[in-house]
Amino acid sequence: MTNKQLLDLLHTLNTTEKLAQLTQLNPVCFGGDCITDLTGPDFGLRVSNEASIAIGSVLNCDNASDMIELQKKHLEQDPHHIPLIFMADIIHGFKTIFPIPLAMSCSFSPSNVEEAARIAAHESSVSGIHVTFSPMADLVRDPRWGRVMESCGEDPYLNGVLSAAAVTGYQGEDPSFPYKLASCVKHFAAYGMPEGGREYNTVDLSYGTLRDIYLPAYKAALDAGARLIMSSFNIVDRIPATANKVLMQDILRKEWDFSGVVISDFNSVGELIHHGVAKDGAVAAQKSMEAGIDIEMMSTHYLDHIPSLIEEDKLSIEHLDNAVLNVLNLKNDLGLFENPYKDASTEQEDSIHLSPEHRAKARRIAAESAVLLKNEYILPIDQNKKIGLAGPFACSPHVLGSWSAGSTTGISLYEGLLQSFSPDCICLAATEELGCSLDGISDIPPLNSESLLSLEECETVIVAVGEHQSDTGEGGSKAFLRLSHNQENLIQCLKSMGKKVVTLIFSGRPLEIAPILPYSDALMQAWFLGTESGNALADLLLGKVNPSGRLTMSFPYTTGQIPVYYNRYATGRPATAENAHTRYVSRYLDCPVSPFFSFGYGISYSEFKYTDFSISTTRPLTVSITVHNCSARTGIETVQLYIRHISSSVVRPIKELKGFKRIPLEPDESRTVTFPITREMLTYFGKDSYLFEPGNYELMIGKNAEDTISAIIYIDDTLWAV
Ligand code: GLC
Repeated sequence: MTNKQLLDLLHTLNTTEKLAQLTQLNPVCFGGDCITDLTGPDFGLRVSNEASIAIGSVLNCDNASDMIELQKKHLEQDPHHIPLIFMADIIHGFKTIFPIPLAMSCSFSPSNVEEAARIAAHESSVSGIHVTFSPMADLVRDPRWGRVMESCGEDPYLNGVLSAAAVTGYQGEDPSFPYKLASCVKHFAAYGMPEGGREYNTVDLSYGTLRDIYLPAYKAALDAGARLIMSSFNIVDRIPATANKVLMQDILRKEWDFSGVVISDFNSVGELIHHGVAKDGAVAAQKSMEAGIDIEMMSTHYLDHIPSLIEEDKLSIEHLDNAVLNVLNLKNDLGLFENPYKDASTEQEDSIHLSPEHRAKARRIAAESAVLLKNEYILPIDQNKKIGLAGPFACSPHVLGSWSAGSTTGISLYEGLLQSFSPDCICLAATEELGCSLDGISDIPPLNSESLLSLEECETVIVAVGEHQSDTGEGGSKAFLRLSHNQENLIQCLKSMGKKVVTLIFSGRPLEIAPILPYSDALMQAWFLGTESGNALADLLLGKVNPSGRLTMSFPYTTGQIPVYYNRYATGRPATAENAHTRYVSRYLDCPVSPFFSFGYGISYSEFKYTDFSISTTRPLTVSITVHNCSARTGIETVQLYIRHISSSVVRPIKELKGFKRIPLEPDESRTVTFPITREMLTYFGKDSYLFEPGNYELMIGKNAEDTISAIIYIDDTLWAV
C-alpha cells in the first residue's frame, strides 16, 4: 500500500478499531487454540472470542497451522481487512536451538550470531512469525540476575557489535523478504542493571553512565535497522521506561530519529500503577501513549481507557493516530496487506525445522561458545581409555537454556560421547538430574558408599554440574551463586579418589566456582549450548575442536564481590601491586579487586605468544602485535584491543574494549594483527554531550582484559587518516 492509502485507511478507522492495532495479546487471552506458555504473570486477562478482532497483533503463536487459522478468521471478521502481525520470543533459535546469547557472545563472532539469527528467522517464519523480540541488548554486570543468559555480557562495544549482527541475521536486506523477521531490540533501557540482581528491581544510574555504558548497544541495533524497540519494566531516573519521555521521545524519537514501532513489555503499561506513577489504568494508558508506546502488550488499558481520555480532551487524537500509523507502516513494510500469511507453511515446517544443515551449524557455533578455563594437560581426553561420567548434567537433555521457544531437549553429553566411545567405555555414576528451585529442589541426592564404585577403573572422570535451566532467565534471580553442596561434594570426592577430574559447568550465568577449581584438573564453562550441546562438548573434550571461547562476563570470586566487571573506574585510591599491604586503598580485606576469571579470558589446546607490540603514528594511527601459535595444533585466538583515556573531563574506565580479531593460526604460524585507532573509538559521553578530547591514551593489546601489553601516547586530531 502507498503512504496515501495507509493514511486513507487510518482515517476510515473508528477509535476502537484504531486501538485494536495497538493491542497485543497471547491467544490464551482470547480462546485461541494456539496454547503457548505465558511469558509473564497470568492475571486472568481474557477477552471474548468475538473480541479477538479487537487486537492487532498476536504474542507467541508458534506454528503455521494456528497462525493461518487465526489470521483467516480475523480477516473474515475485520471489515477493514487489516492483517494481524505475529510476534514472538525467538531469542537463540526456534526449533534448532543455539547456545544462549551469553554463551554465543563468548565466541566473539558476529558471524556466528548473524548465522544463528538467520536460521532462527528461517525456521520461525515458516511457522508464521513476523517479528522477534530479539536481540536483548541489555548490558549486564550482575550474575545474580537470571537474564544475563539472554545478554551479550558486560562490554558496551561487544554488546553493540553482536546486537547489530543479530538484527542483520533476522532481517537480512529487508524483513519483508522470504524467511526474514523484523527485529525488536529490547529492553529499552538499562533493564540489565537491577539493584542486587533482583528481577524487576530498581535501576538507579547516572545519566552519564546510561549514555556511555548502557545505551550504545540499543543504538547499534537500531542503526542496523531494527524495526521495533521494547520498553523495559524498570525505572530510569525514577520514571518507568514505559512512561519515560526523555528515553522515548528526546533520545529515541528526536535524537536517534527512530521511526519504527515501540512496544511495551508484558503489562508494563499496567505496571505503572504498581510503580506508583499512575493512580489507575486510565492514567497508565495516558502516560504510556504520551511517552510514545505504540503497542500495549498483554494488557488492555489502551482499549479500556483511551476512548474516554480522548473524549475528555485528556489525550490528543494525534498521539493515537501516530501510534496506529507506526503499526500500519510496519505491517505494510512486511508486505502483510498483500500477503497476510507471509512465509507460513506447514509443509516447510517439516522440512526446515531441525534440518541437518541447521544442526551442523548449531554444533559448530556451540563448540565455539564454550570456554575452557583450566587445563592441567588432561584435555583432550584419550579416546582409547575408559572414562567416567558423573553429575546431574552427564545424561541430561535439558541443555537448551531459558527462552528456547518451546523446544525442550537437546543432545546430552552422554549421547555426544557415545558417538566416539562404545557404551562399555563410559562408566556412569551419580547422574541423577538436578531439579529446579520452583519445584522446591535445590540439590542432587547425597552420595553414598556405592555411588562412585562404578568409576573404579577410570583414570579420568568428567563431572557435569551446574544449575537447572529453569533457574535462569526471566524471574531467575539468585542470591547464592555457588554450586549446590552435594555437587561440590561430588567433585571433591572424585578428586579424593585420585581421579583426573574434568569439570563442566552448565549454567546461564557466571557461578561462584572458586571453591571447586582446586579439585578440577580441567574446567570448562559449558553454559547451555542448545540442541547440539552434547555433540559440541564431545568434539571439544576429544580435541576434534580446539576450544576458542573467551568470557564476555566476569566471574566473581564470591557473590560478595559483585558487581565486578573489567571496565571499572580507578577510584581515587586504586589498589595496585605496590600498595598491596596498605590500608587506605580501594580493596577488600578478604577478596581481590579483580574478578576470578576476567572478561576476555579463555584458553585453548594451543599456546599463543604475543610479541612486537608497536604503535604507528603515521596516518592512520595504528597499533599492532604479532601472535605466534607455538603449539602443534591449529587454534583460534581472539586478539583484543583495549584503550584507556588517561585524563578526561569526566571519569573514564581503566580500560575499554575497542576492537577484537579472531585469528586462526596453524601450528607454528605467526601473524601480525593491526588495529586502526579512530576518533570514533575515543569519542565518549562527557558532562552532557559526546566528544573527543585530545590527550594521553593508553593503547593495550591482550589475550584478555587482565593480560595486556600497552604503551601511552598523546593523541589529537592530527593523527587521523586524511
Ligand atoms: C517478557 C519479557 C520480554 C518478552 C515479553 C514477551 O516479560 O520481559 O523480554 O519479549 O515478555 O514474551
